[in-house]
Amino acid sequence: MRTVAPFPAARLRRNRRTEALRGLVRETSLSVTDLIWPVFVMEGQNDTHPVPSMPGVSRLTIDKVVEAARHAESLGIPAICLFPYVDPALKTEACENAWDPDNLSNRATKAIRDAGIEVAVMTDVALDPYNANGHDGIVRDGIIVNDETVEALAKMALAQAEAGADILGPSDMMDGRIGAMRSILEENGHKDVSIMSYSAKYASAFYGPFRDAVGASGALKGDKKTYQMDPANADEALRLVERDLMEGADMVMVKPGMPYLDICRAVKDTFRVPTFAYQVSGEYAMLMAAARNGWLAEEQVMMESLAGFKRAGLDGILTYFAPRAAEILNG
Ligand code: PBG
Repeated sequence: MRTVAPFPAARLRRNRRTEALRGLVRETSLSVTDLIWPVFVMEGQNDTHPVPSMPGVSRLTIDKVVEAARHAESLGIPAICLFPYVDPALKTEACENAWDPDNLSNRATKAIRDAGIEVAVMTDVALDPYNANGHDGIVRDGIIVNDETVEALAKMALAQAEAGADILGPSDMMDGRIGAMRSILEENGHKDVSIMSYSAKYASAFYGPFRDAVGASGALKGDKKTYQMDPANADEALRLVERDLMEGADMVMVKPGMPYLDICRAVKDTFRVPTFAYQVSGEYAMLMAAARNGWLAEEQVMMESLAGFKRAGLDGILTYFAPRAAEILNG
């Protein structure tokens, strides 16, 4: 423990007296380059559809996603992350649309690439938007089967890389998927595509609004506890991160964010690798609900919540607040 001089030699309020002094001793700071903006994509043209449980967030048609990417670029946000709202008629038990080169997500990636926008495109590698069962894996006799799902995820990852994704984000929590994805990428000439693994993803009720946004709530049968983590566990998160790094992940993620900052700190301290958190839909929804009721100061809680991730040691945050936070940070 470092020593603190006794009062009055130490008056810790001296350094807090003015904004200039507070700035001088500030330990961490949030920057626009810490932000990844998750965006919901839907079919159609020149249209948006608000997500009721996420005030301020809408699903966007591909042309609008391209505009959003251009907006991100102008704000200095380094990456956007695409989540498709898949037509219910395309959801099957085999989830074939997930690796269709022309599926909604892949067309959106190509459109951003073709527009020459200098923003990294991150994609979601998981079967839930394509699955008639709403699960992240293939379901056989009520069981989410691991190895067959991993084969499907590898095909999906390859299709996303071919569409031009820079970062693949496997959010499925199957065992062995990082290694399988890394092999298929290497074998097919995509050696420079990054993987940001959702390594420590918890079975959380904070994903509710997201499932509305991608239209998965209705389809989901049961819960995701046989593959997502038990919220009571911390040591297991470190095993998962270590395993994913060994299999070829370039960056790792903890999800949700605010209730799991202890996990964020432990991962960063243990591995010293690029570590991110996902401030998920339910975290966004609860802050916005309170703000819209006049119970919390919207901008302040938004910026304070993001500062917390930096203080926990993280390199960046996936957050629906990204464009608004960027505007504030850019002054
Ligand atoms: C599913 C996926 C989920 C989120 C991202 N990818 C939800 C789930 O696991 O059910 C949640 C993101 C959020 O809540 O903002 N592959």
